[in-house]
Amino acid sequence: RSVLLLNGPNLGTLGKRQPEIYGTDTLAEIEAAVAEEVGARGWEVVSEQRNGEGELVDVLQRHDDVVGAVVNPGALMIAGWSLRDALADFAPPWVEVHLSNVWGREAFRHTSVTAPLASGVVMGMGALGYRLAARALTRLVPED
Ligand code: DQA
Repeated sequence: RSVLLLNGPNLGTLGKRQPEIYGTDTLAEIEAAVAEEVGARGWEVVSEQRNGEGELVDVLQRHDDVVGAVVNPGALMIAGWSLRDALADFAPPWVEVHLSNVWGREAFRHTSVTAPLASGVVMGMGALGYRLAARALTRLVPED
């Protein structure tokens, strides 16, 4: 059984992308942290990062058999309507993550079209947020 770690546009360059905002952890380091958390339930991690919205929709449709997901939609939070529709049709529980505290940033980042569909949102905690979201999933998904 697996957890989907899904990252949207511009998140493949974490570590060197605006480190003053997004920190210095790489996506590989984040994957390892998420794997460590969900390993407590014996789950694996499937990590996918795409810059294109349609590709993210494809990934979600392909991985509808996961136990849950950790999703950072990047800027698609703002107006990613087709990603939103794909998430609306995605049955497993999922947690939205933003490395930065988007509420403290530009006004255009103050809306997330995807967050209302999430079980919860972690923001402003940097890379630690992914670990916290993954840990939340280990509690949200019932034992079987
Ligand atoms: C982000 C916040 C978004 O507004 C931004 O477009 C990103 C990253 C974050 O993790 O803080 O790409 O999702």
